[in-house]
Amino acid sequence: MPISTRLTTTLQIRVPIIQGGMQWIGLSPLAAAVSNAGGLGILTALTQPSPAHLASEIAATRALTPHPFGVNITLLPALNPPDYIAYAQTIIDAGVRIVETAGNSPGPVIKLLKEAGCVVIHKCTTIRHARAAVKLGVDFLSIDGFECAGHVGESDITNFILLGRARQVFGDTPFVASGGFADGEGLAAALALGAEGINMGTRFMCTIEAPIHTNVKRAIVEAGEGDTELVLRSFRNTTRLYGNRVARQAVGIEREKGKDVVFEDVRELVSGVRGRRVFESGDVEEGVWTAGQVIGLIHDIPSCAELVARIEREAEEAVGRVEALISKGEDKEGRGKKVGDNVNNPQAEVWAIGKSKL
Ligand SMILES: Cc1cc2nc3c(=O)[nH]c(=O)nc-3n(C[C@H](O)[C@H](O)[C@H](O)COP(=O)(O)O)c2cc1C
Repeated sequence: MPISTRLTTTLQIRVPIIQGGMQWIGLSPLAAAVSNAGGLGILTALTQPSPAHLASEIAATRALTPHPFGVNITLLPALNPPDYIAYAQTIIDAGVRIVETAGNSPGPVIKLLKEAGCVVIHKCTTIRHARAAVKLGVDFLSIDGFECAGHVGESDITNFILLGRARQVFGDTPFVASGGFADGEGLAAALALGAEGINMGTRFMCTIEAPIHTNVKRAIVEAGEGDTELVLRSFRNTTRLYGNRVARQAVGIEREKGKDVVFEDVRELVSGVRGRRVFESGDVEEGVWTAGQVIGLIHDIPSCAELVARIEREAEEAVGRVEALISKGEDKEGRGKKVGDNVNNPQAEVWAIGKSKL
């Protein structure tokens, strides 16, 4: 039976699974495969060298799928930032109605997208950023825990806490759980924690349709959950990467130089050009590349159709297993009572002062 949530009904998708934006990977073959599988595929705008190239990639995706797909716009600090507004306008003009935004100062881009009637999903690593995004009028928050691949933020809060906080704080704004998801048990857990679905990056990177060298996918299959590194922490731009020699070397320099480290010390090691070459050459040690702790849960390279169908099936089974654990009647120890009954502590209303945290 299909899992129906606010995400599936709003985006008109069958399964509450999003493939998050991925630099150099979020291209038409992957996005279309995810959408054809019933999830939401997403193109990555800045993988395209210009807005005109993005328009062509959107057209290429349309030729591959009749289903909805989205585009990611990532706003990162840069000396010469790309023309984000032009990319956003291209998305609007091309008739794409779902946009994933991420990064700093997204206000002007979100305003433009909302005025054009787009559904905006904004990625946040803290509740503070999520509150700001809600004020900007986003439709969904994508709550990215510390486990996630890429920019993890500086707060180091994992999804068990972050998703729980999102549930407590954002009554009306729906949210998606992102970071650390690879299977149906994860999807079931995310739904139980109050999310409307999951967003996955690393897991989709390791599928047949992901347009990268097979060696990278093999490296993910062989890696364990401890095989990532947090790089660029000294610059408050912490990024979770696959733990190869280059990433470890960059971290080593940051540790050794301490507060005296300057970006020049690691620039060559963390170069995006070198990282992109990894995906083409398959030499996983050539540069740094992004991956999340979830690599520990990934053991195969399926098609997107197989993966999405499997996650859907596993989620249903997981929910069934949990349901079977719940005894319907009230037992002798009063375990059937609601928490709000305060059976053991009539003074419990003093706890309500904690509401100020909301
Ligand atoms: C190779 C790779 C590149 C990524 N590039 C981007 C990006 O350009 N913009 C963005 O918002 N998120 C990017 N992400 C993050 C994903 O969209 C997603 O939030 C993240 O992977 C979720 O964590 P997970 O890998 O544990 O599923 C990237 C992730 C990976 C694995």
